[in-house]
Amino acid sequence: MVGMAVTGSGSAMPAAALDNHALSNLVETSDDWVTTRTGIRQRRVAGPTESLVQLSALAAREAIAMAGLTPKDLDAIVLATSTPDDLFGSAGKIQKELEAPQAVAFDLTAACSGFLFGLVTIAQFLRTGTYRNALVIGADILSRWVDWRDRRTCVLFGDGAGAVVVQATSDRDRLLGFELRSDGSQNDCLQLPYQGKPYHLVDEVDITQGNYQPIFMNGKEVFRFAVKRVPEAIEKALFRAQMDIEQVDWLLLHQANQRILDAVGDRLQVPSEKILSNLATYGNTSAASIPIVLDEAVRADKIQPGDVIAASGFGAGLSWGAAIFEWGR
Ligand code: ACO
Repeated sequence: MVGMAVTGSGSAMPAAALDNHALSNLVETSDDWVTTRTGIRQRRVAGPTESLVQLSALAAREAIAMAGLTPKDLDAIVLATSTPDDLFGSAGKIQKELEAPQAVAFDLTAACSGFLFGLVTIAQFLRTGTYRNALVIGADILSRWVDWRDRRTCVLFGDGAGAVVVQATSDRDRLLGFELRSDGSQNDCLQLPYQGKPYHLVDEVDITQGNYQPIFMNGKEVFRFAVKRVPEAIEKALFRAQMDIEQVDWLLLHQANQRILDAVGDRLQVPSEKILSNLATYGNTSAASIPIVLDEAVRADKIQPGDVIAASGFGAGLSWGAAIFEWGR
C-alpha cells in the first residue's frame, strides 16, 4: 500500500428548515443583518425524532454506495462530532446501524476541524496498509447546545451529517499534503464548557455534577484567527505537496461564514468560482460542513475525478488544518 483515495461521499440533513425571518421571531435580528454578515439565509435543525446516529448512517450509506462497497467491507469508522447522542461515543451505534461488524468505530472530537483531522488520521492507517476501507463521518447537531436567546451565536449554526469513504491505494497517494495545528491558549474564544456544581460524596470526598453550558463564542477573535491561520495552513500543505495554489481546482473550506471564505480566497488569490459554498442553505454545520459541501459538489458534477481539492477545517480548540487531495480513484 502506498496511499489513500477518497472514493465516495454522502450527506444527510434534518427535515426542518429555519430561515432568518423565522429566527427574527426568536431574537432581535433580521434577514438583512444575518445575510450581510454571514451569507446564511437558512439552516436545518434536527427534530425530536432525528438523531446524530440516524443522520450519520444515512450519509454513510450514500458514501459507501458511491464507492461501490458494502458496509461489510469497512475496516474502520471515524465519527467526527462534538455532539454525540452518547457522550461515550456514537460511532459504535453507527457501526451497528450500518451492519459493519469488522469495522473498529470511534469518535473524534475537534469541533469544526474534526472531519479534516479524522480524514488525515485515517489516512495514516491506510498508508501503512493496516486498513483497506474506511469511513470518515462529520456530523453535528449543535442546535442541542446553542443558546437560542443569544443572537450572536444562534443565527450561525445548523445541523447535518456528511461522510466519505477512503480506500487504500497501491499506485499513488491522493493525499498530497496536510498540516494540522492546535492552539489551546485561545481555547476560551469558542467553548461548549462543562460546568459542575460541587457535590459531596462521603467523608472528605467531593466531586462535581453538572451539565454543558451553551456555546460561547468571541466572534471577532474567531474571525481574525480563521482569516490568518487558514491561508497559512493551506500554504504549508501545498508546500508539502510541492504544488502552487494555481493547481488547486477547488477550495473546500469549513462553512463558517461567507466573509471568512471570501477573505481566505482573497489572501490566497483564488477566484470565487473555485470556492465551494452552501452557507446560504445550511449555515455552519461544524464537523459536517466539509463533507456536506463536498458531496453536493460531487453530485452536481462540479468536482470531477482527478480534481485537486484544498480543504481546510478550523474552529474550537482552537484547532485548524488543511489537506490537499485529489478526488476519486
Ligand atoms: N442580529 C442583529 N444584530 C446582531 C446580531 C444578530 N444576529 N449579532 C450581533 N449583533 C449586534 C451586536 O450585538 C453588536 O451590537 P452592539 O454594537 O450594539 O453591541 C453588533 O451587532 C456588532 O456585533 P459584533 O459581534 O461585533 O458583529 P461582527 O461584525 O463581529 O459579526 C459575526 C459577528 C458574524 C459572528 C462575526 O464576528 C463572525 O462571523 N465571526 C466568526 C464566527 C465564526 O465563523 N464562528 C464559527 C467558526 S468555528 C466553528 O465553526 C465552531
